[in-house]
Amino acid sequence: MNIPYRPLALGLVALAFSAVVLQRAQAGGDDYFPPVVDPLVKEECGSCHIAFAPSMLPARSWKRMMANLSDHFGDDASVDADTAARISSYLVTNAADTGGKRYSSKLLRGLAPNSAPLRITELPKWVREHREVPAWEWKHKDVRTKANCVACHADAEQGFYED
Ligand code: HEC
Ligand code: HEC
Repeated sequence: MNIPYRPLALGLVALAFSAVVLQRAQAGGDDYFPPVVDPLVKEECGSCHIAFAPSMLPARSWKRMMANLSDHFGDDASVDADTAARISSYLVTNAADTGGKRYSSKLLRGLAPNSAPLRITELPKWVREHREVPAWEWKHKDVRTKANCVACHADAEQGFYED
């Protein structure tokens, strides 16, 4: 292996990758959901699973979720009151029906205006988009749960969800 060339090669790969990401972001497709940029939210909400994009749920869902973090899908995800208030404000500001609308109003299609689901994976539109995924695939050892977006969407943490 020719060690002196490695940094150059890595640099080129990184450059090519960011060019692709930039191109897709500029295309502004329906399948781009701006990732969490707030370091606090990333840390507190990205340790057990990816930090889900706030624009994937309506504000009322985030409020409901943040009101009961001690029983979060069976886990205790509670944080102190100040931290909770900061996280909540970030999620609500960037929710699907507030800040993120441009990208994600499509994902709320078919959702009753007063329902506040806690799962992205239970949104009618999400279910429709995934109806062709066979049962065995959800159970595959590399997937295990529908919430494991990165298993199938390699760039989920960068906000991209196309095939
Ligand atoms: C202690 C671990 C833990 C922490 C911390 C945590 N979560 Fe979760 N979260 C879970 C588990 C477990 C699930 C259920 C995953 C599954 O169904 O496979 C979940 C599911 C979710 C889902 C639903 C995913 C779906 O099915 O659509 C959302 C949204 C979510 N979490 C948001 C958050 C937010 C926001 C925070 C930060 C306030 C957070 N989580 C912090 C453990 C955690
Ligand atoms: C088992 C694999 C798998 C998992 C896990 C998975 N998806 Fe998907 N997802 C797919 C497939 C397959 C499609 C359909 C692709 C297509 O038609 O372009 C899709 C489509 C989508 C789309 C629509 C993209 C578009 O082109 O309009 C979104 C948004 C999406 N997924 C989000 C998610 C989120 C968020 C999660 C995690 C909570 C997730 N997916 C988990 C396989 C998966």
